[in-house]
Order: sequence, then C-alpha cells, then structure tokens
Amino acid sequence: MLALYVHWPFCLQKCPYCDFNSHVREAIPQARFAHLLRQELAWEAQRLGRRPLTSIFFGGGTPSLMDPETVATLIGDARRHFAPEAELEITLEANPTSVEAGKLIAFRDAGINRLSLGVQSLEDASLLALGRAHSAAEAIAALEAARKIFPRLSFDLIYARPGQSLAAWQQELHRALALAADHLSLYQLTIEPGTAFEARHRSGEIVLPDEDLAAALYEATGEAAAAHGLHQYEISNYAAPGAESRHNLAYWRYRDYAGIGPGAHGRLSFGPRLVATRRHRAPEIWAGRVERDGHGSTAEEDISPENRAREALLMGLRLREGIDRTEFEQRTTIALDDAIDPAMLIACIDAGYLQAGTRLRATPEGLRRLDAILPRLVK
Ligand SMILES: C[S@@+](CC[C@H](N)C(=O)[O-])C[C@H]1O[C@@H](n2cnc3c(N)ncnc32)[C@H](O)[C@@H]1O
Ligand code: SF4
Repeated sequence: MLALYVHWPFCLQKCPYCDFNSHVREAIPQARFAHLLRQELAWEAQRLGRRPLTSIFFGGGTPSLMDPETVATLIGDARRHFAPEAELEITLEANPTSVEAGKLIAFRDAGINRLSLGVQSLEDASLLALGRAHSAAEAIAALEAARKIFPRLSFDLIYARPGQSLAAWQQELHRALALAADHLSLYQLTIEPGTAFEARHRSGEIVLPDEDLAAALYEATGEAAAAHGLHQYEISNYAAPGAESRHNLAYWRYRDYAGIGPGAHGRLSFGPRLVATRRHRAPEIWAGRVERDGHGSTAEEDISPENRAREALLMGLRLREGIDRTEFEQRTTIALDDAIDPAMLIACIDAGYLQAGTRLRATPEGLRRLDAILPRLVK
C-alpha cells in the first residue's frame, strides 16, 4: 500500500508565520516543473513497482497555483504507474483567493476529489495580521463554491492567535462549524524558527496566549467540534466518522508513502528495509538534479528498528485511535513495551494521560500534553 505526496513549492507571497518549503518567484516556471515532477514520479515508480495506491496529496506551497492540466497529467501518470484503489483519495491544498477559486471546476475535472482550503481565519483583521492575501468574504465564497464542486471538503483555521480571547474564538469557531462540511483542521499558531513572526515574537511585538488560555482554547475547540458531529481523530484534525483524511492517516499510522517534488519526504519499504527518502529543498537545485539524474533525491538512509519505533510512536500517539501493538511490532521489529520507558508509562496511565491494552493511546487529556509526554516516554 502506498500514499503519494506531490510538493508544489511556489506561493504568491510568503506568510510571516509559515516555515513550509514555499518560495515566491517573479514567474512560476509552470512547464518546467510540470515536466520535472512527471520525470521524478516515473523514477520513483520504477523502483516501487505497481503497488496498490490509496491516496494522492498535492501539498505546498500553494498547489492551487498549478495548471490544472499538470494536476491531471500527474494523476494519470500515478494511475498508470501504480495500482489505484477504487476509492482513490486525491486531495489538493488550495488558497481561497479569487483567482484560485476560479480554477476549482478545472481541478475537479482533473481528478481532485477532496479539497483542503486554507481559510486560516474568518476575521478580516486577523487575516491581515496573518499576512494573508484574501478576505474573510473571499474565503467564504471559495468555501461555498467548493462545497458544490467537491465530494469531500476540508478547511484550515489557525487559532491561539495573538490577542485572541476565548469568547472571540468560540464565536469564530461557531461560524466555521456552520460552514464546515465533514472535515476541519484547526491548528494552534506556532512560532517557527526563521519566520518573520519569530523575530516579532522575540522582540515582544507578538504575544501568544498564555498556557492556561491556550489550554482553554484547545478544550473549547474539541467540545464545539464534537457538538457538531466532528470528532477529534488527531491533535489538530476533526472529522465526521469515515471522513478522516486517508492520506494523512497513512503518515500517522506510519505506513509507506512516496514524496516527490522539492523538499518532499518519503518512507518506503523494500522487503525488510524501511528507507527514509528526502528531496533537495531549494526548487532550482531540485530541478537541476532531476534534469541531470532523473530525480532530486538527497542521501537516502535505512531506518533502524529503534528509529522506526521512535517515529511510529511520535506519529501514532497523535491519533485518538493510538497504536496497535501487533502492527507496531511488524513495522518496527520491536515490541511496543520495549520502545517506551516503563516508569513513564505507568505514571502516564495513573495520571489519566495514556491507556494501554491491545492499543496504546492518549486520552483527550494526554493528547493536550503530548509534547511534554513524548520526550520522556519514548526510549
Ligand atoms: C502547507 S500549509 C498551507 C497551505 C496553503 N498554502 C495555505 O496557505 O492555505 C498547511 C496549513 O498549515 C497551517 N500552518 C502553517 N504554518 C503554521 C503555523 N506557524 N502555526 C499553525 N499553523 C500553521 C495553516 O493552517 C496551513 O493552512
Ligand atoms: S501559509 Fe500557505 S500561502 Fe502562506 S507561505 Fe505558507 S504555504 Fe505559502
């Protein structure tokens, strides 16, 4: 089983909070990158063989800036190279500016069956503070258009923003839930190294909600989503039953995925080996390597059983469903109990943060504290 990620590294502008591999160029080299992504996909497919394909995800950057024909061609290639499942999930991340909203039908016709829209906020003042190029009205118009076009639709919001009160977030979330289809991604703002926000945070210009307020915002988010029938299946992701992102579940369940395009990662098994793959991050360097070698891969490495166990724990405990012991052992060759600190496990169970049976999973209280728990739990 395989999930396929395609990275489109270009954006119209760089948002001050974002540390994704995204770049602004005067003119986006559409034809060159379309050609090179096809070439790299073919190279990757050749060594993978016709594995069952469960999902494709066009992420970025801003993949809604891609020509829809490029998206269609890549989907066609992936369908030929691999053995697509009948219910192949094909997601595209889109920004809700009017130009991109105008391309939604073309993306549906290209084969996209799930759209993930980067709304970020429903308040104009917050969108401005986040450096976004769209208004709340544009985002809502894009959402309403997308609802009629795509069978599956999700959107992202960023909360725990500077100056945000609990009451204000509850109100915004209420409006968001009224607009939501069957999936939402609700991220707490994080200050990422090297971003413009980091400098402004350091200088005191940007102040984030304190720990208590952040916890209250998080709790209120889960409660409001649940009241709307969207259950929290991962720390930041909420869905109606069956509407979870199958592509992202592949990451969190620590299954195989291939990543093509600048900076993309992969985890690929070849018999008993599990290989970590990574592409050059800078778009032009990646492009030059694909032209020269057929791929933009940097050094690839076999993942040791210990590192597999670590990665599987870091990913799997983000999910409400947690980690299945048998699957964990098959994937990592290490028994789950040998991969975690026994004293910390007991302490976390006693505190009500973890539950251990055939699965190891975090309780809602544990999920909220996962960042603090994991470094001490994982051996
Ligand atoms: C690849 S990014 C952006 C996709 C798309 N280009 C956009 O801007 O809408 C995916 C999501 O990560 C979230 N994100 C990015 N940086 C973040 C940060 N510093 N804190 C919280 N969420 C962040 C945003 O919600 C964003 O929609
Ligand atoms: S948040 Fe989205 S649009 Fe903004 S820089 Fe990051 S990837 Fe680009």
